[in-house]
Amino acid sequence: MEAAKKEKISVDDEAVDKNIFKDCSNIAFYRRQKKQLSKKSTCRAVLDSFTTGKDSTSFQIINEATKIPLLAEVYGLEGNIFRLKINEESPLKPRYEVRDVLTSKLSTVRLISCSGAKGSLVLADGKGDLKFHVTADPFKVDLVSEEDIVMSVNSLGQLYFEHLQISPKQRATKENEDDASVDTSQQENQNDMGLWEEKFGKFVDIKANGPASIGLDFSLHGFEHLYGIPQHAESHQLKNTGDGDAYRLYNLDVYGYKIHDKMGIYGSVPYLLAHKLGRTLGIFWLNASETLVEVNTEPTVEYTLTQMGSVAAKQKVRSRADVHWMSESGIIDVFLLMGPTPSDVFRQYSHLTGTQAMPPLFSLGYHQCRWNYEDEQDVKAVDAGFDEHDIPYDVMWLDIEHTEGKRYFTWDKKRFPNPKRMQELLRSKKRKLVVISDPHVKVDPDYSVYAKAKEQGFFVRNREGGDLEGVCWPGLCSYLDFTNPKVREWYSGLFAFPVYQGSTDILFIWNDMNEPSVFRGPELTMQKNAIHHGNWEHRELHNIYGFYQQMATAEGLIRRSKGKERPFVLTRSFFAGSQKYGAVWTGDNRSDWSYLKISIPMLLTLSVTGISFCGADVGGFIGNPEAELLVRWYQAGAYQPFFRGHATMKTKRREPWLFGEEHTQLIRDAIRERYALLPYWYSLFYRAHKTAEPIMRPLWVEFPNELETFGIEDEYMLGSALLVHPVTEPKAAVVDVFLPGSDEVWYDSKTFAHWEGACTVKIPVALDTIPVFQRGGSVVAVKTTVGKSTGWMTESPYGLRVALSSQGSAVSELYLDDGHSFQYCHQNQFLNRKFLFCSGVLINSCADERGRYPSKCVVEQILVLGLRKQPSSVTTHSSGEESSHSYLIICSCKHRHISREEMISPKADAMCLPQAQLTRAFWWSQAY
Ligand code: NOJ
Repeated sequence: MEAAKKEKISVDDEAVDKNIFKDCSNIAFYRRQKKQLSKKSTCRAVLDSFTTGKDSTSFQIINEATKIPLLAEVYGLEGNIFRLKINEESPLKPRYEVRDVLTSKLSTVRLISCSGAKGSLVLADGKGDLKFHVTADPFKVDLVSEEDIVMSVNSLGQLYFEHLQISPKQRATKENEDDASVDTSQQENQNDMGLWEEKFGKFVDIKANGPASIGLDFSLHGFEHLYGIPQHAESHQLKNTGDGDAYRLYNLDVYGYKIHDKMGIYGSVPYLLAHKLGRTLGIFWLNASETLVEVNTEPTVEYTLTQMGSVAAKQKVRSRADVHWMSESGIIDVFLLMGPTPSDVFRQYSHLTGTQAMPPLFSLGYHQCRWNYEDEQDVKAVDAGFDEHDIPYDVMWLDIEHTEGKRYFTWDKKRFPNPKRMQELLRSKKRKLVVISDPHVKVDPDYSVYAKAKEQGFFVRNREGGDLEGVCWPGLCSYLDFTNPKVREWYSGLFAFPVYQGSTDILFIWNDMNEPSVFRGPELTMQKNAIHHGNWEHRELHNIYGFYQQMATAEGLIRRSKGKERPFVLTRSFFAGSQKYGAVWTGDNRSDWSYLKISIPMLLTLSVTGISFCGADVGGFIGNPEAELLVRWYQAGAYQPFFRGHATMKTKRREPWLFGEEHTQLIRDAIRERYALLPYWYSLFYRAHKTAEPIMRPLWVEFPNELETFGIEDEYMLGSALLVHPVTEPKAAVVDVFLPGSDEVWYDSKTFAHWEGACTVKIPVALDTIPVFQRGGSVVAVKTTVGKSTGWMTESPYGLRVALSSQGSAVSELYLDDGHSFQYCHQNQFLNRKFLFCSGVLINSCADERGRYPSKCVVEQILVLGLRKQPSSVTTHSSGEESSHSYLIICSCKHRHISREEMISPKADAMCLPQAQLTRAFWWSQAY
């Protein structure tokens, strides 16, 4: 057992061993596709075969070389989405199709076929402004919007489909076992192509179904900027892939992963977005087997006025991005999301895979983790440390050492003799506990989880039919087969309070090692020929294994509360749709500035692919951060959705107060800023949950018509109101901040200095500076006092930070509810308020009439930035007991020009109202 741990830990400070992990040259299906595609055989759609059913239109595609027919099905889905499925027309046996990812609500729209030119067929949605144009020979699809070809499918002829065959062994038996004419050289060649057997180092993958890979290309016309397909430690904007350098989607446990690398790490979302001026679109490749994505963007040719003259310069220059998807098995099931705006694409993707789960409020606070907090005393001391140093925090975390020999759902009796007592202590502080629960189960007949799972056949099996055994933290273990609904149901039952001894309702869950991590397995994961429920090989579903564990865990937490309470589950491995079940973090990063920096693009990529609740280990998991790095990391983490400090075993202790008072103060400030902004965060989560708007947004999402924003990834928007540019360089004295939007005004959230948009400003930074800017036209709700945890802040007053646009107005919504139950959706127990500032009047009104929630809170402070006239009086007014409207009226008697000095001084163009001037009339509690 200890050996397993040592094996893992010994690589602590070493670079990732590339011999453990494959690159494209080691991947047989990649080699096969490349070889075959170089032969340029074509496919043709059989026009006579077109049949239109209730939901879809289907037709045959024939590969000219093999002559074996494929069956294509085209669906029009509500809201500008096309779905294209391609499978073998009559496969030898069924091919794997991903289940449980798509929401059940998918509604199809009838596609009408209109005649195209000879040799082609056009399918159009009811409105007729989007067309699916099929050219028969060679087979190609153009997606046309208003006469403009937006995307072509298979225009590069990379449609690839390996038909299932009977194995050479079976064939030989069938024909004649000792037929001397069997060509051994061909067999060797076949081995090299990894058809039935593939070697990697000492590992041999024997494939029950032989070659089954698929591929298809997409050309995006006029696009150069592509994003998505997490998870890679790479830039937000996808890079061109050279030979053998495709983005790999294969969930792997890569300790201290290398950055700026396209290798697969913990999770996969096979979903890519493309953006250009005037249109955003998405390609969602629903396949859970190992997948490679090649990306090639053709640069736009730029003509300058002097070279070409003004007329020529206005010519439309078409760039193009080609995207080539290849998967090891399964079927082609691809969704084409036609936008046209970024928010349309987010909505379309959420129709398919769901939105971010509404988290419990506590989980937006700060989380304190370490591998490991040693024992109950340690937990008590660390918890007290936060109070002593006046630092808010919400959640204490326990890693694998809290268990009895890494048997999840148990407690180490020596270290944690009384887990309930420990939880009661945390509860008394209005705090929570998160403990780890991995998918591997220690092989130990006396361990009830193992014994029960074994008895019921709930483990993944090896190809010989026995329970698969591998090595992970506990030593020898078996792996629960979460793809089996019965296993999920049973597993979720393990979280019931009477079953999970020592657990209480303040205990929540962390799913780790669920790629799954298998220490002595190929690439440290499960062999691809392991067998799952339904007799599917692991290769078919590898990338969705972790998704299923988080699904079952979230379900378990809901069930234990009889459906009343929102769960919190953090997962390391994920797939498309994981957002429905909780949060994701970026795994084992390092205490290095480069990892702090890459956390921003990594989180932006997760965010645009639906996973809004994401974060990176603050401080870096591996290594010991110097004080400056730790402070900068807290400052960055405070403005990222999931905010957790975590460190591996061998590192020095690094609780926020261990780096001297100066640094403690800085960390305290950063965490307190996070807590002050909780109303804003919570409202953003509600929007993400309701309307699929990402919380952390790349600038291009908010400013889709500004080319300059398309490649920015060192800063981002939090919602639509705050622009954050974390400091990620050591000893920084100044940062260059790009403030987008020529019509925009931006206010420094600390100094209140303001700038007009569309410029880069040099912001001087000291160690206490977190460059955050509020966008003119927004109202950000804050809490004016910060408590020990979110639980202490329920009734603390609100403040409004009103930042006026150049037109002198501002608007926003604030959401609130009880912060933990499902009452907000089942009983409409919520409040959604709108704040609108216009012509000197701030109106507080109801944004959603369905919501009712009795809040005792008041607004005790309003800060207005950007007033052009000196206010002569300020009054508050409520339009009556029964009305939910109230007003704040700012009367101005004299017009003032604001001088430069005044601009930097907070008092000049900012107005801050003390509590005395605000009565309860301004708040909503009177309305009910
Ligand atoms: C790997 C995880 O990434 C890390 O966060 C955790 O501390 C260790 N496993 C031990 O559970």
